[in-house]
Amino acid sequence: MTLRKISITFFTILSVAVTAQSSKKQMSKLIQDEFQFAEKQYKYLMKDIPNDKMPQSFKASEGKLITKDISWWCSGFYPGSLWMIYEQTKDPEIKKEAERTLNLIESNKTFTRDHDLGFMMFCSFGNAYRITKNPVYKDVILTSAESLSTRFRPGMQAILSWDKMADFKGPVIIDNMMNLEMLVWASQNGGNKKTEEIAIAHANTTMKNHFRPDYSSYHVIDYDVNTGKVLNKKTFQGYSDSSAWARGQGWALYGYTMMYRFTKDEKYLNQAQNIAKFILNNPTLPEDKIPYWDFNDPKIPNVPRDASAAAIISSALLELGQNTKGDEKENYINVARKMLTSLSSEKYQSKLGENGGFLLMHSTGGLPLNSEIDVPLIYADYYFLEALKRYKDWYL
Ligand code: GLY
Repeated sequence: MTLRKISITFFTILSVAVTAQSSKKQMSKLIQDEFQFAEKQYKYLMKDIPNDKMPQSFKASEGKLITKDISWWCSGFYPGSLWMIYEQTKDPEIKKEAERTLNLIESNKTFTRDHDLGFMMFCSFGNAYRITKNPVYKDVILTSAESLSTRFRPGMQAILSWDKMADFKGPVIIDNMMNLEMLVWASQNGGNKKTEEIAIAHANTTMKNHFRPDYSSYHVIDYDVNTGKVLNKKTFQGYSDSSAWARGQGWALYGYTMMYRFTKDEKYLNQAQNIAKFILNNPTLPEDKIPYWDFNDPKIPNVPRDASAAAIISSALLELGQNTKGDEKENYINVARKMLTSLSSEKYQSKLGENGGFLLMHSTGGLPLNSEIDVPLIYADYYFLEALKRYKDWYL
């Protein structure tokens, strides 16, 4: 090698190392600032919550906090967010509120009216147990897993998402992948072996029926509950039956990445990699990497974003980065970092004391339902905090 070539190689390696070091420094500061902000901001949020409700969103035009009953699918995100903030800050006021809200939702452990128990009980009690190792919390998770498993329908080899909803007979939504985490965790932590088998069956059935050749996901598959025959492939919250609803793609990516963590079954990793390809190569994914609410809305770019989808996708990409190598891994981490940097910027992040006390603005719950459009949503905050924690634990 000539001296010139050696110098170029040396300076290239040096500049890559310097860039990596400076992005580590930046992220370290960003994450620290974000948790300090969350600690203060959630003290505004906790002020106006009625004792028997959970915060969901904020209606800026009326200056009104929107809250929901504890049986709403989102009831675990506020306690879970509080636990993650407490973990980083050790603030006793945050811990007290985290414990109060866990008590409030504990009775959900026998809830069987829909599939959302994993969101409700694992995002809350799962974080609480991870941080405190209190065996009472573990018991609640194991009971909740048993309750959720009652919704498994052997005929369709899947968990029934909703009993009765619109015209659906046996609806299974892609979101349901997220509830499998509690089932597998419970099984691997002293619970019933059956709950893991149910989760695996559900993940396999979903892999077979929910995905298009480009690995985008349908929202709802309607089954014949007895035979498992697919009756219809539809949407409930997306732009159209054939579109890729952004948060649904996030649930899919997160779901298969998580299933690989527990099972080490390569087919789940491959599925997650293919879903990531669909999302990251999508021509509608904007420069700041915060997706529009549906990848196929023809009115893009004049449609709302979904910060919650970005938060979920960033958290999933960080985990996918743990299971991949080389350029592929770098790409997942870089996109997740871009998402987290965007979400922490003025464009998406609330100001202290504003936005009802939520951390993030610009999420979209159900656009076709005319519900929760371009608003803060509690689960956007939850997955944002989770992604920040993951980045800190794995990449700093
Ligand atoms: N699981 C409901 C939603 O993502 O809106």
